[in-house]
Amino acid sequence: MSAILERATRAPALAPVQSVDPAFARDVLAGLSMQHKSIPSTWLYDHRGSQLFEQITELPEYYPTRTETWILERCAAQIAAEAGPEAVVVELGSGSSRKTPLLLAALERPSAYVPIDISAQFLDESVQALGRRFPTLPMAPLVADFTRLQTLPELAFGAAGGRRLVFFPGSTIGNFVPEAAVGLLERIGGAVGRGALLVVGADATQDPGVLVPAYDDAQGVTAAFNKNLLTRINRELDADFSATAFRHEARWDPHHQRVEMHLVSEYTQRVTVLGHAFRFAAGESIHTENSYKYGIVKFQALARRAGWTQRQLWMDAKARFALHVLERVR
Ligand code: AVI
Repeated sequence: MSAILERATRAPALAPVQSVDPAFARDVLAGLSMQHKSIPSTWLYDHRGSQLFEQITELPEYYPTRTETWILERCAAQIAAEAGPEAVVVELGSGSSRKTPLLLAALERPSAYVPIDISAQFLDESVQALGRRFPTLPMAPLVADFTRLQTLPELAFGAAGGRRLVFFPGSTIGNFVPEAAVGLLERIGGAVGRGALLVVGADATQDPGVLVPAYDDAQGVTAAFNKNLLTRINRELDADFSATAFRHEARWDPHHQRVEMHLVSEYTQRVTVLGHAFRFAAGESIHTENSYKYGIVKFQALARRAGWTQRQLWMDAKARFALHVLERVR
């Protein structure tokens, strides 16, 4: 978060243009002005980007979604026992909510479901699908950026409700730099209060032989996901990126224990965005995403700093993915 703000203050002055998202314009112009060009990964998710991400989750190389589902199928009953009856389930970045039924079906008389997502369309579709499966469960979808969450809808605090349970699957926590991840978990804790549970999925893989193909698949879906950012910038910010002039690259950084996605310029070129010219050297890249991979001890330490303590821990047999069940202690 602070990195984004820092970039924003160095953005070139913008001419007022109708229908441009000012936050997107600021992040792109500021990010392309940096010595190491970089654009926050949240901008990968326009409608097409979200569709491509859904396709990624089905790829043979992309193990996190399958592995987390496999784990949840086996531990949902124990999580439900920890939560107790009439839990209020809050899901962060719920997207298509495909793992949610596993949890809701295991809980004893859940009293409400509060999915939070930036995409109204995804929320609408998932609430409709879940409504068919759980027709008596009250639902209060919230169109919002959960990273800015300060309070929760009334339903999440209803007198009838039992324990609050925040469901944050998918290893989305790995897309935040660790300091921002601590801040986010702290804010979530502040919103749900002492005694709440947090069920959070975190990719634990450290093997580049597994990680690099997962982020650079043979069918090129992840490359299309990454390059869609250039198409989005062209469409929304009057830019002239050529998608063929950049290649997708996935890099494992063992020092930071993260996979980085980059868009690498194939040759020296000049690109214009909202009237501002940016020069690229051959081989220079735009850093578009970090995906941190947390060993168990490291994640537990991060959670503790944010005011959460471990109650349960579930992993697959290859120890590639972890589902942490945490309790808010302050
Ligand atoms: C959403 N997030 C957890 C995905 C990840 O694995 O970091 C995004 C993604 N980027 C490329 N492939 C998947």
